[in-house]
Amino acid sequence: MRQPAGKLLLFGATGDLSQRMLLPSLYGLHADGLLPEGLTITGTARSDKDDAEFREFARAALEEFLTADRKTDNAVSSFLERLFYQPLDASKTEGFAALKDKIGDISGGLAIFLSTAPWLFGPTIKGLESGGLTGTNVRIGLEKPLGFDLQSSREVNDIVAEAFPEERTFRIDHYLGKETVQNILALRFANSLFEPIWNAQGIESVQITISETVGLEGRAEYYDDVGALRDMVQNHMLQLLALIAMEPPARFDGTAIRDEKVKVLRSLRPIGDVQSLTVTGQYGDGASKGEIVKGYEAELGKPSDTETFVAIKAYVDNWRWKGVPFYLRTGKRLAERRSEIVIRFKPVPHSIFAERGGKLQSNTLVIRLQPEEYVRLLVMAKQPGLDRDGVRLAEVPLNLSLDHEFAHTRRRIAYERLLLDLIEGDPTLFVRRDEVEAQWEWIDAIRRGWDAAGVKPKAYASGTWGPNASVALTERDGVTWNE
Ligand code: BG6
Repeated sequence: MRQPAGKLLLFGATGDLSQRMLLPSLYGLHADGLLPEGLTITGTARSDKDDAEFREFARAALEEFLTADRKTDNAVSSFLERLFYQPLDASKTEGFAALKDKIGDISGGLAIFLSTAPWLFGPTIKGLESGGLTGTNVRIGLEKPLGFDLQSSREVNDIVAEAFPEERTFRIDHYLGKETVQNILALRFANSLFEPIWNAQGIESVQITISETVGLEGRAEYYDDVGALRDMVQNHMLQLLALIAMEPPARFDGTAIRDEKVKVLRSLRPIGDVQSLTVTGQYGDGASKGEIVKGYEAELGKPSDTETFVAIKAYVDNWRWKGVPFYLRTGKRLAERRSEIVIRFKPVPHSIFAERGGKLQSNTLVIRLQPEEYVRLLVMAKQPGLDRDGVRLAEVPLNLSLDHEFAHTRRRIAYERLLLDLIEGDPTLFVRRDEVEAQWEWIDAIRRGWDAAGVKPKAYASGTWGPNASVALTERDGVTWNE
């Protein structure tokens, strides 16, 4: 089925993700005339609401989470007319018949968006089957967490696979919906400049940072069981790594791109010595954006060994990347909100400037994904002057600001892209089962290593760049984190 679905079913419709992201995204698509004509959106959750109450709920969500320039009264009211609601206890099959009645005829195709606690996947899939809400014209989008480790992720995937074959299963990693993440593909494969040196001969090291300033954000119950490794590295960071490291796919489609990504994920060297290749941390008291903030345990209300920071030195063991370290780091309550990839190239083989006192730095490519969007190539240039006391060289940026270049093009929420692709049935930006499983396999080995070595997170003050040991992780190799 590769035609737009006529109906959309949203599980967790009254939840946080729905309010902040899904409803505003669907509204954005609606307002720009991108949703299929007549597409209805049925929300479902436990709360007892009728259509009118759900529409009011959605109106309030749009009010709060959309900027004023995106809203017009007409578009809001015509969007709300698409919305319907059916209360459901997804743990019991009984309610699914009524859900099906509410949705009505699905012969024109149904897209389901499922974001639920892992233990509810089984009952929900069973319920969908019993209610006649599966079948060849139904596809399903799955939001994380999809399991807790390789085994539980296999269980979830097996349950889903009973009703939905892989080509109708769309696993969401919202980083893939980000424009700048997709731009990695354009940078690498729409330019001839980089690819010849995009390998161990040309590249010295790669850094990937996703730093956040937020703390628990009211998600204590989820986060404390999960930690930074599972919450961020298992999915978003490994997807970024795969896009940076993969071989050129033969075409831009779901099979070719995902085939190449999974090869990278399977080539990740298992982390053996966790003590020297990983650093974990947990934020303590400190300051964030000028405000005093509490440490993790105080926020949580109990002692905990959960890591809110992780840094890893990884290797991709294949011909292209032999010996090139990939430094990954992510954490909460860090100094800045920033997602970026920093590629450091090899130095020139011989410096003709050395005898004239000129000092060279290796070229660096910074791909900033957020909050700003830019690609910056740091190159050496001669400082103006007569050079009587030596040649002075300086590192200067060649700057491509995507914010500036595309200032008049709308920046969309990642979920706009992903929801539209789900509705239209394009799997390219969704994660295939083999990818998820390769990701878990690598992550599980790190966790096992931590358990065996009794690794406990090191404290770091909120508002800093994490524990000092993370500095040592790169400095030992003569590499400095880009800060
Ligand atoms: C989510 C994590 O997947 O990504 C959150 O569960 C994290 O903990 C979020 O805050 C970060 O996403 P973004 O788009 O704000 O970088």
